[in-house]
Amino acid sequence: MTETRIDTATDRSSAGPTAARELFTEERSAEVVAASLADTPDPRLRELLTALTRHLHEFVKEVQLTESEWATAIDFLTRTGQMCNEVRQEFILLSDVLGISMLVETINHRAAGGTESTVLGPFHMVESPERDLGADIALDGKGQHCLVTGQVTDQHGNPLPGATIDVWQANEDGFYDVQQPELQPERNLRGLFTADDNGRFWFRSIVPRYYPIPTDGPVGSLLEATARHPFRPAHLHFIVTAPGHRPVTTHLFVDDSPYIDSDAVFGVKESLVRDFPEVDDPERAAELGFPNPYRTVHFDVALLPLSAPEAQHDGEIALEERP
Ligand code: BEZ
Ligand code: FE
Repeated sequence: MTETRIDTATDRSSAGPTAARELFTEERSAEVVAASLADTPDPRLRELLTALTRHLHEFVKEVQLTESEWATAIDFLTRTGQMCNEVRQEFILLSDVLGISMLVETINHRAAGGTESTVLGPFHMVESPERDLGADIALDGKGQHCLVTGQVTDQHGNPLPGATIDVWQANEDGFYDVQQPELQPERNLRGLFTADDNGRFWFRSIVPRYYPIPTDGPVGSLLEATARHPFRPAHLHFIVTAPGHRPVTTHLFVDDSPYIDSDAVFGVKESLVRDFPEVDDPERAAELGFPNPYRTVHFDVALLPLSAPEAQHDGEIALEERP
């Protein structure tokens, strides 16, 4: 993986000769700034910053941004940064509600025969416990019981034995275990499963509920100011891996959930929405330890082969702090 580096501690005396530069004008503002970036040694960093400059300058000109609007934007971004800590990432939330997370995700994981991906979200913050196939991940037994089944294959339908299926979901009230440490058992509704010899997996759970993303920060204010609701439709999160294959981070959406057509973070893809039919079978329910009737859902996952080495500009941008 190549690394794109912005070294903010550069010794300016070692910079190259300062060539005479065109003076700043409204008409050629972006070109003037772009010229100042021309000696950026990393070509990808130069490309990113030049395009960013061009689009930002175009934006300011298009909307004729006022000084007070720019001050408001700076204040908003400052508060967004100040809201961040080890467990809260308000910038990612901002990226989510503006559709940028989904766009970056979609561009970088074009499915081409594999299961489509979607956002990771902030609640995979603890490791899922390893569980046996068939285990019930609803440790408190609360909610509408549901049998989840599926098979992991390659893009041609060949089973991938030993694939791992990492699952986490909200409860029947729309909360993850980490949001209700006093109310839910630790690691409730989380599990790490290993598929059988046919790539099949199955486990017991409950049907999750839709829930709001956090609204007590600047992103919440943004949603309110734009008359947008903060809800995500009901879903189960999955990360599925298998040796020699690209892992997929995805969701399984409940088709009759409210907000399925208006996810606050734009995460819904048609191919990930499933029916959760009710089954009326007292014998099978008794075998599962479920009350009758219960719900079921089936979710097959197809993984693509590992891609060739990462493209040259699929690098990291390291921003070093000043000493
Ligand atoms: C989630 O599904 O867990 C999630 C995704 C994006 C923002 C907030 C929550
Ligand atoms: Fe979620």
